Amino acid sequence: MLLLGGVLKATHDTQITCDLANVIQWCTLGVRPRACTTKLHLMPRPGEPFQITTPIYYVNGDPHMGHAYTTVAADVAARHARRCGAEAFFLTGTDEHGAKVAQAAAEAGLTPKQFADPIAERFRGLARDMHARNDFFIRTTDPEHEAFVQAFVERMRAAGDLYESTYSGLYCTACEAFYSEADLIDGLCPQHGTKPTYTEERNTFFRLSAYADRLLERYAASPPFVLPPVRLNEVRSFVEGGLEDVSITREAVKWGIPLPWDTSQAIYVWIDALINYTSALTYARPGVDLSDLLWPARWQLLGKDILRFHAVIWPAMLLSAGYEMPRQLFIHGMLLGHDGFRMSKTRGNGMDPYPVIEAYGADALRYYLMREVSFGQDGPIGYASMHQRYHGELANDLGNLVNRSVAMVVRYRDGVVPKAQVDGEIEALAARVTAEFGARLEQLDLTGALEQVWELVRALNRFVEERAPWTLAKSDDPAAVARLDSTLATLCEGCRLLGVLLAPYLPERVERLFAALGEPVEIGWEHAQLRAGSGRHVDPTIGPLFPRIDQAPA
Ligand code: ME8
Repeated sequence: MLLLGGVLKATHDTQITCDLANVIQWCTLGVRPRACTTKLHLMPRPGEPFQITTPIYYVNGDPHMGHAYTTVAADVAARHARRCGAEAFFLTGTDEHGAKVAQAAAEAGLTPKQFADPIAERFRGLARDMHARNDFFIRTTDPEHEAFVQAFVERMRAAGDLYESTYSGLYCTACEAFYSEADLIDGLCPQHGTKPTYTEERNTFFRLSAYADRLLERYAASPPFVLPPVRLNEVRSFVEGGLEDVSITREAVKWGIPLPWDTSQAIYVWIDALINYTSALTYARPGVDLSDLLWPARWQLLGKDILRFHAVIWPAMLLSAGYEMPRQLFIHGMLLGHDGFRMSKTRGNGMDPYPVIEAYGADALRYYLMREVSFGQDGPIGYASMHQRYHGELANDLGNLVNRSVAMVVRYRDGVVPKAQVDGEIEALAARVTAEFGARLEQLDLTGALEQVWELVRALNRFVEERAPWTLAKSDDPAAVARLDSTLATLCEGCRLLGVLLAPYLPERVERLFAALGEPVEIGWEHAQLRAGSGRHVDPTIGPLFPRIDQAPA
């Protein structure tokens, strides 16, 4: 039998590679889009509806930074897609059944549902507090979901893909997955460092093995089913190594959706959970079934810890039940805690997002998460580097640039941005950065896109020093006057463009940035280009975008 959740032993974590560099630029860039050399459209076209999802998180404990991470990443992508004109439907939620939640509830002396309710609300609240604009929040205890799951497994049964058999093996409750001895490290679960328990049960099985060829066919096709390529290679070799059938019910676990034709069995929590991506579409909008519009999902984002469930079992389940496979899975790396291990509720090394949100604001945390660890790779996060990036990059590089630009417009031009042409070199750089930024977001290279923006931030900071407006302001010479006009126009336009580019990452703070420049909040992609100086009144009363923080959490 296939050992669900066995750890993928990646030997090399590679960054999301740029083998999609020729992806068509379908957005209006203000510069001519590059020619279409491939049919790999990762971003939907304007007006095209598409679904983007995060995993649904277990409610056995409070949310931590790892959960905030995927939610923010999906939100950045969804916000960018929306401002490019697409109809994004962003789904997230909670996974509430199974032994893991039942165990945590029993320890708290509560029923699983009593236990799950407040924690599910905390996950919902975290999305909101991280400024994520999800379109629906699914809970697997929603009655609509439960009924859909039962209908889904009925379809798998009708396809002749289910049968009964006995399973015995080692089970890690934290993973809700079986392991072989070979998968364990010193007899312990490689993900959680806990001892798995021996389990023997009569279960219903899914003929996963029958889908190996169709899965391999999809892995070989274009556009890639799984990104980055290192993860695609992992699942490909896993399936090439031979697929075994999987158990889809649990006899001993009572906290789950009953198997419709044998209620002594609960549907395995992973089967129940994966189906959320389709069930949600049937009841997210009362009276409307969004399935035809939104399925197959365009992007499914998840951590590498749950790759096999999503890249092997999920598409096979869909094929069995007569649905299309999702278009693409994006697999990110793991955030590591202070002990160097993957942050997890089970290890207790999770970093609480709230003290960081309270100290620095949610936007700054969004920025930090997307910037600190290259999206796709593993990496550590912590309070010290958060503090450093906040002051170095947000308060100094970006915040000061905006403040200085506004202050100089007040000082030298009575608060009105001169209607002058912008500097040619900065304009060329801005066009290149904007095009690169868009291309990187299309590949979900969320960190690389930010690096591009910072190229422009740094260039604008150098530009202020080189132009020295304070010197130009001392001269009445018409050439100096014109040069000062152009300098101020370039700075304000540069800051406005930074606001447009950064809007998906810093949705709230860019509103302040636009207000300081006296600009309307226009973040549509058609605004991502430099124009002539606006002639608008800046507002110096807005205050620093990122005030200095002395009291940092530790
Ligand atoms: O696996 N670094 O739920 P879960 C980065 N319910 N991302 C992390 C992370 C970390 N240290 N820790 C968690 C489950 N995540 C199932 C999923 S989906 C049908 C069912 C993020 O609460 C990341 O997205 O353990 C990871 O894949 C997910 O949370 C696991 O959350």
